[in-house]
Amino acid sequence: MKTFFTLLTGAALLSGCYYDKAEEVYPQLLLNNSCDTAGTISYSTHITVVLQNHCLSCHSTASPSGNVTLDTYAGVQAVAASGQFLGSVEHQAGFSQMPSNNPQLQPCQLTQIRKWVQAGAPNN
Ligand code: HEC
Repeated sequence: MKTFFTLLTGAALLSGCYYDKAEEVYPQLLLNNSCDTAGTISYSTHITVVLQNHCLSCHSTASPSGNVTLDTYAGVQAVAASGQFLGSVEHQAGFSQMPSNNPQLQPCQLTQIRKWVQAGAPNN
């Protein structure tokens, strides 16, 4: 059992390294979005950038598709708390896959969202 968890942790660490290296190998990823997963993920610094670029065209207060509003903290906090935010961007079973018209978000962006939601989706 212990070995199993050691392997699991190892795999998680390795995949983390893989994504870090991908950004070094393909610097244009960094130019396109300065996606950084280090340290605390902030709503105002990190999360709103992703939402702005990939979600607000369909989820603004003026036109909230599926009744999901992502241009206010309260709206984002609601889907974070319900599990819909992570479920939709990670393409988990039982959720609509988001962004609906585009490829899945980059691994780095998914990591940012996961870290922020798991930290309790703070208004930081
Ligand atoms: C092209 C339009 C479009 C874009 C872009 C888009 N959405 Fe959606 N979204 C929809 C529509 C339409 C629905 C309601 C119908 C459905 O669930 O498929 C929806 C539903 C949702 C739901 C509820 C899903 C569920 O299963 O409960 C969430 C959460 C969501 N979107 C989040 C996002 C996030 C986060 C992004 C950006 C990463 C995003 N959406 C980008 C159109 C869009």
